[in-house]
Amino acid sequence: RIAGPCGLVIFGVTGDLARKKLMPAVYDLANRGLLPPGFALVGFARREWGQQDFEKIVHDAVKEHARTPFREEVWKQLSEGCRFVQGELGDDASFERLKETIDELDRERGTNGNHAFYLSVPPSLFPVAVEQLKEHGLAEQGANNWRRIVVEKPFGHDLASAQELNRITSDVFPQHSVFRIDHYLGKETVQNILAMRFANQMFEPVWNANYVDSVQITMAEDIGIGGRAGYYDGIGAARDVIQNHLLQLLALTALEEPVSFDARSMRIEKQKILAAVQIPRRLDLYTARGQYAPGWAGGIKAGGYLQEEGIPKSSSTETFAAIRLEVDTRRWAGVPFYLRTGKRLARRVTEIAVVFKKAPHLPFTSTATEELGNNTLVMRIQPDEGITMRFGSKVPGTAMEIRDVTMDFAYGGAFTESSPEAYERLILDVLLGDPPLFPQHEEVELSWRILDPIIDYWESKGREGLDEYESGSWGPATADQMLAREGRTWRRP
Ligand code: BG6
Repeated sequence: RIAGPCGLVIFGVTGDLARKKLMPAVYDLANRGLLPPGFALVGFARREWGQQDFEKIVHDAVKEHARTPFREEVWKQLSEGCRFVQGELGDDASFERLKETIDELDRERGTNGNHAFYLSVPPSLFPVAVEQLKEHGLAEQGANNWRRIVVEKPFGHDLASAQELNRITSDVFPQHSVFRIDHYLGKETVQNILAMRFANQMFEPVWNANYVDSVQITMAEDIGIGGRAGYYDGIGAARDVIQNHLLQLLALTALEEPVSFDARSMRIEKQKILAAVQIPRRLDLYTARGQYAPGWAGGIKAGGYLQEEGIPKSSSTETFAAIRLEVDTRRWAGVPFYLRTGKRLARRVTEIAVVFKKAPHLPFTSTATEELGNNTLVMRIQPDEGITMRFGSKVPGTAMEIRDVTMDFAYGGAFTESSPEAYERLILDVLLGDPPLFPQHEEVELSWRILDPIIDYWESKGREGLDEYESGSWGPATADQMLAREGRTWRRP
């Protein structure tokens, strides 16, 4: 799987995402020999950089963030294909310069008219960027070349804006040329959910409401919002990561076996699940939201959300969200899927825990099983990638006493191969035109249909019901009460 002749244009190349993820990923792909020798990387931004400044920025980003070792020959070849176009998205002359640059690359480096345009800019700028690509003939593809557009989440901020965004992109690019990035789908451990479920015989028979008590999906971060006040405030945890990452994890955990792993079959199965998701009737009892307050996080004294630079003191944006969902299908009837995510929590961890019911009968004394919990299978998405199985075992000794133990699979111990970074995998797939790992518009719509009423409810309440939680804790007490109401507790990963 090596990309053919092509180039990648990054709009918003001065941003954090480009520096920390996109440019390093391009280098890693080149270093692994997955890009063609004439590959071209074009940066487009307002900043007054010259060609040399751009090359230095790419160089430094690669040195600091690439996964693979720095090799001078690889860098030399890649840097020869780097071009910077200084310009404004709304400015015709800038797009003419971009067009000239691309034509020149086609002639000089043999990119053959194949280009992907990566919109690493705020969503409010998507329409003008797409329109300009069209106006300047940059979106036109012939029989022998391709043009693709890559959009980063958030895909809109509600159903209506997502539909509008889709209308704008699909007016200019055919559906198969639109690549929506949800970087969780590029993670090795996320792809392994399907491998684990469908390559084995022992999980699928118990993967249903007869055996499963509940599912907990956690995406906890120890960092705050950093310098992202402008993006984050007014967006909040639900739109930032539940609409995309967490609902995708839910869909992969719950879906039926797809006919194949091609984009169409995957889309069909994911859509069936998202369409079957039910939100709680009592949003006051079965959702929870919070905002981080000062506390100790990661060994340092951290301020609260309202003290972050650029955040209005009256902000009601949630930095923590927990939601109870159900999937109304025969397989999952009545099984709660608890989703939670938050910033400035106790540690960074993403995991999916499938909690099984207790055995229907225990032929032991009640004291023997005091320390026996529910069997649990935990798919550890990050950072300690692997799978844990938790079950009861006899404690060595003369008495029959049973205690939970764990059995672990860790990527580091089982494989010598290194995992590509999510963006590496996804950028390669864009250049190959391989769509299974990219959410389709229908999934995006279905996700907003789930979240819109919840967010509307929260917004109608403002700061009422928005609980503070100490930085470095596991979130607000209301999230614990939400589970306690049903006799359950959150896992402490
Ligand atoms: C992004 C969110 O999509 O995912 C960020 O916008 C979040 O708020 C990030 O920090 C987390 O990504 P990862 O790969 O570190 O879990």
